[in-house]
Amino acid sequence: MKGTERRFTVAQISDLHCGDLRFDAVLLRNCIEGVNEARPDLLVVAGDLTANGYRDEFREALEYIRAFECPRKVVIAGNHDCRNVGYVHFEELLGPRAGVLEFSHGGSCGKNLSERVQVVAVDSNKSDLDDGEVGRHNYRFIEEGFSSEVTFKVFVLHHHLITIPGTGRERNIVWDAGDVLEVLRRTRVDIVLSGHKHVPYVWPLDRMYLITSGTASTWRTRGHIPPSYNLVEVDEEEIAVHIISSADGSRRTEVYPRWWCHESFAEYLR
Ligand SMILES: [Fe+2]
Ligand SMILES: [Fe+2]
Repeated sequence: MKGTERRFTVAQISDLHCGDLRFDAVLLRNCIEGVNEARPDLLVVAGDLTANGYRDEFREALEYIRAFECPRKVVIAGNHDCRNVGYVHFEELLGPRAGVLEFSHGGSCGKNLSERVQVVAVDSNKSDLDDGEVGRHNYRFIEEGFSSEVTFKVFVLHHHLITIPGTGRERNIVWDAGDVLEVLRRTRVDIVLSGHKHVPYVWPLDRMYLITSGTASTWRTRGHIPPSYNLVEVDEEEIAVHIISSADGSRRTEVYPRWWCHESFAEYLR
């Protein structure tokens, strides 16, 4: 990476699916070990903790989430968690399904300022449907949730905003994806973290990155894509996304510029 030092690391996991026939505890323990070794500043669990939203499945997921050693955790519900009115158990055991979190870290963007990271998370689920929608009522919550003083903005939802390659027929893309993308772009969001498709992928879009995590702990995989989780490392100039196999620890790394720190592409290349 171009920056002189790592600023902060976000661990992104999703689609644990505790209770599913294809859930594999070995994969989840590997994931916990790998994340703990990286000592992230923030853990994001982007939904689908359970197979069917049952209370015992949530209890099992919660035990695993507690094993992640991280000072900050943002956990949201997925469509599977909301089945069978599972959002009731989610709220009782894990807390609100949407929220805002902020923390400070080191310097930022080559300037001697404190890095201020802000996370806005929303519930994109529709009751008893696999489809997703953010909804107009949330647009103001998103825009006002992000402060103008923040240097790095993270938006979290379960469903995908752009279709993911290698996932077959497109379905469950957020109903109002176009309007949500426009809100995020206007708000100058840096990264969008989501799950749901069980295939990890990074879509650069204008000056933000849409980062999808695979399934961390199941063999509900597609083709040759292994179960995986993401580590997102941010330094003063770049964002590195490490996609790490929960099966064997192998990784693929993609590095992107932090656009909102640079006036232009020419400045980035300098
Ligand atoms: Fe899932
Ligand atoms: Fe899902």
